[in-house]
Amino acid sequence: METPDKELFDKVVKISQSRGFVFNASSIYGGLRSSYDYGPLGALLKQNISNLWWKSIKNADTNIYPVDTAIIQSSDVWKSSGHLEEFTDPMVECKKCNKRFRSDSEEITECCDNQELTEPKQFNLMFETYSGPVKNENSQVFLRPETAQGIFINFENVLRTMRAKIPFGIANIGKSFRNEITPGQFIFRTREFEQMEIEFFCKESEEDQWMDYWIKKRMEWYQSLGIKEDHLQLREHEENELAHYAKKTVDIEYLYPWGWGELEGIANRGSYDLLSHQENSGKDLTYFDSVNDEKYIPSAIEPAGGLTRTLFALLLSVYDEEKLENDETRTLFRFIFELAPIQIGILPLSKKDDLIEICNDINKILSEDYRTEVDITQSIGKRYRRQDEIGTPYCITVDFESLEDNSVTIRDRDTMKQERISIDKLSEYFEKL
Ligand code: GAP
Repeated sequence: METPDKELFDKVVKISQSRGFVFNASSIYGGLRSSYDYGPLGALLKQNISNLWWKSIKNADTNIYPVDTAIIQSSDVWKSSGHLEEFTDPMVECKKCNKRFRSDSEEITECCDNQELTEPKQFNLMFETYSGPVKNENSQVFLRPETAQGIFINFENVLRTMRAKIPFGIANIGKSFRNEITPGQFIFRTREFEQMEIEFFCKESEEDQWMDYWIKKRMEWYQSLGIKEDHLQLREHEENELAHYAKKTVDIEYLYPWGWGELEGIANRGSYDLLSHQENSGKDLTYFDSVNDEKYIPSAIEPAGGLTRTLFALLLSVYDEEKLENDETRTLFRFIFELAPIQIGILPLSKKDDLIEICNDINKILSEDYRTEVDITQSIGKRYRRQDEIGTPYCITVDFESLEDNSVTIRDRDTMKQERISIDKLSEYFEKL
């Protein structure tokens, strides 16, 4: 296995920012710490990851229903889920500089020369706000710290409207918010991030079987994105690190430039959430199995991934540098074709109008099925370099011969091999990939 590489972190952050994947939020005002905006390429990449997530969880073995639930729910949801009481991190304060840290943060040692800290206090990570014009206890609401509760509180709605049969899953994707005490490491830990979560409802006797199923399936999914296999591992939580709702949790970890860390958590939440919502709402959340004539509260197996964190792990994993024959180094993101923000770059050899016209014609045809870009700025060498850097798998070059023979050159990002192909055959070429 390769050793962690701290230099890689700086390189990936730099390219992400300079090439339009991720920008510092509020940058024209000096930025807002640990808040990020996704630029044109980052927004596309996020969308592509999300599409592959939906595609992979829908298959013949499992019945998964999508939902898209509100960020602001009734405060009763967070009382019942335990987040108001339990969703806390231990926080310490430096008695000299008054900076606050998570008590396990490595930043404590860098804070100031006085190492005297207060006793740890529990700090609730939920962002608070008020719904409506009156600010009081009754109008206080919270931004969701996980998308999962939107699923539990809609369990009965989905069951009834979709006539769902156990086992089945409900999947939710979207923004979550945590007032992290020490956010950092670029988009790894931010206060606003995106999650992709499934609650898979099953019989209690089948919990272990479905837990194993999802661990395997989710691990395979990360590999299918092109994330290096030797940079992924499973780690089961110790008893003392389990979240308040979990019977068992297995993390899929990624080898970040600073070491192993969480990428996704797969938890057995048992019947904790549905039972608690049933008790506190007074609504019947049981499932009726008409075949066996039994009524029960199902267990929930929860694969909980981070969309923005996956995007970060992917950038780190597919980043590459290659020495060229002329001793220059090219840098590239080796995205798989489905994920690449731009799949096909279309480049005229020079800025001549008749070459650009052919590029635009090709773009019209290919952009119906692929993410394409006509790139005319700078020299052809610089444009190839940029397309490599943003991870474009194929470039089509239109040159002066194209005017004569109606053919173009296709350049493969990974091998840099070029082949000549008739413009009429382009659609067929990409269909076959
Ligand atoms: N519903 C369970 C749950 O939320 P979690 O392990 O706290 O579990 C799931 O979060 C995933 O969400 C994590 O594995 C990570 O990918 C992502 N995530 C959590 N906190 C994050 C943060 N502050 N910034 C970015 N991603 C985060």
